[in-house]
Amino acid sequence: MPVLGIESSAHTLGIGVVGSGKVLSNEKEMYRITDKGIIPARVADFHSENVRTVLDRALSSAKLEIEDIDAVGYTKGPGLGPCLRIGQLAARAISERYKIPIFPVNHAVAHVEVTKSLCRAKDPIALYVSGGNSQIIGLEAKPYKHYHIYGETLDIGVGNMFDSFAREAKLNPAWGSTVAKEAVGGSYVQMPYTVKGMDFTFTGIMTNALGLLKGNSLRDVAYSLQETSFSMLCEATERALLLLGKKELVLCGGVAQSARLQQMLSAMMRARRGRLFVADNQFNADNGAMIALVAEKMLRSGEKASLDSCDVEQRYRIDKVNIAW
Ligand code: FE2
Repeated sequence: MPVLGIESSAHTLGIGVVGSGKVLSNEKEMYRITDKGIIPARVADFHSENVRTVLDRALSSAKLEIEDIDAVGYTKGPGLGPCLRIGQLAARAISERYKIPIFPVNHAVAHVEVTKSLCRAKDPIALYVSGGNSQIIGLEAKPYKHYHIYGETLDIGVGNMFDSFAREAKLNPAWGSTVAKEAVGGSYVQMPYTVKGMDFTFTGIMTNALGLLKGNSLRDVAYSLQETSFSMLCEATERALLLLGKKELVLCGGVAQSARLQQMLSAMMRARRGRLFVADNQFNADNGAMIALVAEKMLRSGEKASLDSCDVEQRYRIDKVNIAW
């Protein structure tokens, strides 16, 4: 039962195919972000220009024809409206043309579920960290089965904090991963640290870091920004694990690719005699396979979606999703 998934919520257009929970293909094209950041209309044009090519690649690497596909999923949200609409339009066209069911997928659910499935975690909480999001989440049964948000950023996502810092500090390329490279070998400079229960904030620390660039080396500031923000995430996550009595942690989302964050969480989980689960980088970056994987779960659990209900929702929160599997 091969299922196709289309991801287009931000600068990545990803299309993947899964069958019986196994990833058969995972293809993508990424819009190159300039120093002006993401301009949604331009990214949407990029997605619509590339959708046919990426679809063909996803099918041919899975060794399938479009007629072999049994269902199609797309990212309903959260994300950038114009970009989400390209994925939605492509999925609707495929569903109508080939008379197959269509499933609107929550992007955050997909990030958690892909790691949970591929790493075979049983009863985890998840730290979902990306550009736009930073949340500590876990499944709850009442009042309906859903992912509850135990803690989250009260302002910007940790990934956006690194990207904004990189842009303001005129790093080239102005991207969060550049901050990680700059941070190697740095020394710690004191910074504000804001954790409120299981919530956290990042704008204050970013503004402070930019101020510290006068009088400190870029290396020391980048290092301290990384150490402080990741420590905040570790503290809030450890509190959630303790309060909920959990021993498994799923780390997912774009920032989950950070070796330093993985190292810090892994040390924390070892000390708690628990396990950290992190998927391969291709599944932490935005990708189509994770959307296909959730669409397959929705199909198998008997969920139905009409074409008319297949809309997009820019602020589609994970706790609004009814988990049917
Ligand atoms: Fe994402």
